[in-house]
Amino acid sequence: MDDLKVKISTIVKELFGVEVPVEFAAVPAEIEGDYSCNVAMRLAKVAGKAPREIAADIIAKLPDDYKYSIAGPGFINITISGKAFANQLRQVWTEDYGYNESGADKVAVSEFPSTNMAKPYSVGHLRPGTQGWAAKRILEANGWKVITDNHLGDTGTPFGIWATGFKRSGRAIDDVTIYDLGDIYIQMKADMKAEEARGEHALADSAQDWLLKLEAGDDEAVDLSRRFNKISLDHVHSVMKRMNMVTDYELGESFFVERGKALVKKYLSEGIFEQNDDGSVICRLDEFGIDVPMLMLKSNGAALYATTDLGCLDYRLHEWKADRLIYAVGAEQKFYFEQLFAVAKKLGWDAEMQHIWFGTIDQVTSDGKREKMSSRKGVVLLEAMLDDAEKRVRENFANSDSELSGEDVRRIATGAIKYSDFVADRKTGILYDPNKIFALTGQSGPFCQYACVRMRRILEKNADFAAGNSGFGDYDFETEKTVLRRILEFPALVASVADKLEAHRIAGYCFELAQEMNRYYENAPISTAVDEVRSARLWTVAMAATVLERGLDLLGIEIPERM
Ligand code: ARG
Repeated sequence: MDDLKVKISTIVKELFGVEVPVEFAAVPAEIEGDYSCNVAMRLAKVAGKAPREIAADIIAKLPDDYKYSIAGPGFINITISGKAFANQLRQVWTEDYGYNESGADKVAVSEFPSTNMAKPYSVGHLRPGTQGWAAKRILEANGWKVITDNHLGDTGTPFGIWATGFKRSGRAIDDVTIYDLGDIYIQMKADMKAEEARGEHALADSAQDWLLKLEAGDDEAVDLSRRFNKISLDHVHSVMKRMNMVTDYELGESFFVERGKALVKKYLSEGIFEQNDDGSVICRLDEFGIDVPMLMLKSNGAALYATTDLGCLDYRLHEWKADRLIYAVGAEQKFYFEQLFAVAKKLGWDAEMQHIWFGTIDQVTSDGKREKMSSRKGVVLLEAMLDDAEKRVRENFANSDSELSGEDVRRIATGAIKYSDFVADRKTGILYDPNKIFALTGQSGPFCQYACVRMRRILEKNADFAAGNSGFGDYDFETEKTVLRRILEFPALVASVADKLEAHRIAGYCFELAQEMNRYYENAPISTAVDEVRSARLWTVAMAATVLERGLDLLGIEIPERM
């Protein structure tokens, strides 16, 4: 279509002596034409003529490879034959169709899911994972090199609290799970708060002692810390594995403590940061329209969350040479990241920084109210959610002929959960409605997955035929037209979502393509078709299958072998 755009530009220049941007918009199915161009309306003033007349002048000079009509106030609608779409797709099709190299030589860091070591993985860290992973895949599809990093919440205090609580529980370390550690931690936090209210500090002292012992290299403390970390990390890894996600690095907060402190010292001495009377250090951000300074160091000289993030930013920008930083973190930390990015600007650190935040995950209560997802015990654990999802998938498929493998159950369950994250713009809250999420109809992950499985099956069934037949003869591709048109939109879509990381637009596209395919089969029998018709149809299915799989892959959604 680029050729035609150039032609229209040239004609406009010739006729009216001006240059105007020529753009095509897709035309809705009920209206005649495939693309429409509004250039005639833009020229009305210059030409001093009615847009419909201008449109007619332009059309008179256009080559007759396509059909043209004038619509509404003066749109030029262009109708392309199915065959022209097929030819176009054959021309642009490559091994890596849909991907581009616009980000070549550029490095991005995508940070997710950044769970906290002291607590089990909960649904609170579900969206960071799915969104952060999609950001990675989308940028890779646009040629970027992407480094992924799980910024684990692992700074000091949890260990002291765990160790105290664990000793007090009298339990043996070998049968303690992350859930026990999580309970111990929560109980200890509550007890410490109560103790503080009473003006006592025995537990707090003990936690502090353990930290000191760890720092001094005490055998028991070192051993316990290793064990706790292993329990916690094994847990994070096993949940991530179920979600089919890994990160290249796991540089937790503690990794950046010293680096952050050194930077605070440096910028304090350079007068960019300021010290309060109590010894704490701040960075003023008034010049960025933020009137709350960022607290960079505690009054006792201890590192804060922001201290470690400063060290981490520096590391990503200067060790990894990142051009772009992506933080997939909940909306509660919006202001925090606004401050952090402003601090980076103030320091002259140059890179694109994006906090991709999102809405909450809601559920509908038994009396029909919408509220933030929770369970009787408080937060919903991600493992529990995945177990429940797999159970629902098994139930949904209980009566079908194909026995699902365990892997396929996992793929469908996680596909459903992940897709629900992309149904709308990420800023919108998700409504976790199992009846919709796991359904094989409507806009769901399983619906899209099923479309892929069905296409694969068609291709397998016809494998012998497709392999032995390459020509399309004079086939007109009119039945395939809408499918082909949609497939042709994919590369531009992938390119257009890279800036704002709009994974939901990919999800919408996948759904529409899957729907398009369902409509297509109704009008286009494949296995009973002959020769070039069959060949053309199988080719169309193969193209659609590749594109749909690629689209879902950008969302981290896997395709089951059977469904
Ligand atoms: N662990 C943090 C939390 O769960 C998220 C970390 C976000 N990343 C960062 N670089 N601060 O709230």
